[in-house]
Amino acid sequence: MKKYLVIGNPIEHSLSPLIHNYWIKKNNIDAIYEKEKLKKKDLGSMILKIKKKKIHGINVTVPFKNDIITHLEKLTPEAETTQSVNTVYLDNNTITGHNTDIDGFRLAIQDIKFDVSNKLVLILGAGGVVPSIIHSLYKMKASKIILTNRTKKKAENLKKLFKDLEIINWGQIQKFDMIINATSIGLKASDELKLDFSKFGKNKFFYDVIYNPKETNFLKNAKKLGNKIENGKKMFIHQAAQAFKIWHQIEPEITNEINEMIDK
Ligand code: ATR
Repeated sequence: MKKYLVIGNPIEHSLSPLIHNYWIKKNNIDAIYEKEKLKKKDLGSMILKIKKKKIHGINVTVPFKNDIITHLEKLTPEAETTQSVNTVYLDNNTITGHNTDIDGFRLAIQDIKFDVSNKLVLILGAGGVVPSIIHSLYKMKASKIILTNRTKKKAENLKKLFKDLEIINWGQIQKFDMIINATSIGLKASDELKLDFSKFGKNKFFYDVIYNPKETNFLKNAKKLGNKIENGKKMFIHQAAQAFKIWHQIEPEITNEINEMIDK
């Protein structure tokens, strides 16, 4: 039986095992997908287990998407550009790191038929998934990306990867067509981003990376004012599907059952 894992810290709330084991069963694959909480110092020995074929693939989540890179032998161009790896596998005996968050985001946006081309995008936050979102937005031909983060240093580090990024001070808001909450504000039902929604105008697109709760206050307020909204659920499902495809060479089906499983 093949073994797959998602590693991170914390990891208790990860829904990756649920979704991967669902597809494993549906496709009659002899495998299991588990979660493991570990420390940064354990990353090297984890990778060794893949080399020795004791583990056949891992997903990497917060906070190790960048830390894992030093332990890998090869990066795909997507992982290289974003310096972020969420999927690891053995490719011709070479430990390879890839990033499926990029396509996950693109496919989610395509699903809901939003056209990013020539749009002005404002990103709030600079957490682990932000380089993937930025890369994806540029691939979809966004005209400009502006980013604001409480800790400015983290925003400036992103500018080293993406030269065209414009950084503005936290709390400052600029004109946009699409705004993305990539902060962790909203994970708790009472969390509120201090934004003056009356200034934004209507018919903008509000996207939240968070999918639990389904509607953060950021999305609720935006919806009330007549804007288009979307949470991070589709991105999460698509990134998982892309990883599944790499490991099992099967395109898994995104069913209603999966959507319901994640909403529970
Ligand atoms: P990751 O591990 O993916 O980087 P994270 O560190 O929890 O996730 O980052 C979440 C994002 O939410 C960060 O941009 C963080 O801002 P900082 O870089 O300043 O830490 C942002 N964030 C979390 N709590 C916040 C708060 N109370 N006010 C403003 N931003 C906040």
